[in-house]
Amino acid sequence: MAFPIQRMRRLRETDALRRMVRETGLTPNDFIYPAFVTEGEGRREPIASMPGQARLSVDLLVKEASEVKALGIPAMILFGIPGRKDERGSSGYDPDGIVQRALRTLKAQVPGLVLITDVCIDEYTSHGHCGIVRDGKILNDETLDCLRAMAKTHVEAGADMVAPSDMMDGRVAAIRDELDRAGFVDVPIMAYAAKFASCFYAPFRDAAHSCPQFGDRQSYQMDPANTREALREIELDIEEGADIIMVKPAMPYLDIISAARGRTLLPLAAYQVSGEYSMVKAAAQAGWLDETRAMMESLLSIKRAGADMILTYFAKEAAALLQ
Ligand code: PBG
Repeated sequence: MAFPIQRMRRLRETDALRRMVRETGLTPNDFIYPAFVTEGEGRREPIASMPGQARLSVDLLVKEASEVKALGIPAMILFGIPGRKDERGSSGYDPDGIVQRALRTLKAQVPGLVLITDVCIDEYTSHGHCGIVRDGKILNDETLDCLRAMAKTHVEAGADMVAPSDMMDGRVAAIRDELDRAGFVDVPIMAYAAKFASCFYAPFRDAAHSCPQFGDRQSYQMDPANTREALREIELDIEEGADIIMVKPAMPYLDIISAARGRTLLPLAAYQVSGEYSMVKAAAQAGWLDETRAMMESLLSIKRAGADMILTYFAKEAAALLQ
């Protein structure tokens, strides 16, 4: 039953035929737009290593959020760039911290947009690690208290969903407990479940000034070599009460996305991280790739691998194309 009976090209002849047999598609509903919020007013600081992205003060973030909503993108995820950092990242769980203030304003001025927050202290610690540090070690259980407080203050300020990205053990259960005690039983948790110790976060760390001041993140983020361990991480986060699980980065880990899709009925998110974005931008600027096509093909690959939602700095550009 092979050639010449079978001819795969029959269904590729015209655009209409190709559309009829297309298996995967993208819509603005698939995207979550990450944004960096900083102190001040009227402030827009372009991020050199992420062309097209900037740190925005709250007033400009409101404009950005309105554009995001108008494009049909359902959600944003917020990252804070605080004015002050300390050993415990306390500006991250200050009820008057930068993200908490941004949430109050966005909630009032851009209703209907789902506001997700990244829950992790690295942007707020002087040492840049995602946990409390003692004698050069990253302490797990002590860090959970900071994460509880951060999640609670975010939700009190208007966050619709929290997304822990720290990779401490037990954080999903701790945050669920904290939110439930505070009466926020309906606020979902999107867990960065399988987060790898990746070089592709470099432009983000430049954007968030969150590069670790000593060592690296390999004692808490995952070894890029491990698939089974990623599936265990996902299983544990589900047991602890995650509502959505995430794989991060996306394109270098499509196999993990696909394996996760095969294992769970939960909604699955994938984070196309800063380095993935910047590679496409850089190649396009050099004239080596067609930026629009590279953007759409990369997003489609993540969707095809099994992701239901994609956190991506391309969200606005891709959604504009899909109008
Ligand atoms: C930690 C966090 C990071 C990213 C999202 N949340 C940085 C890290 O783990 O070093 C990276 C996102 C990106 O690269 O786009 N708060």
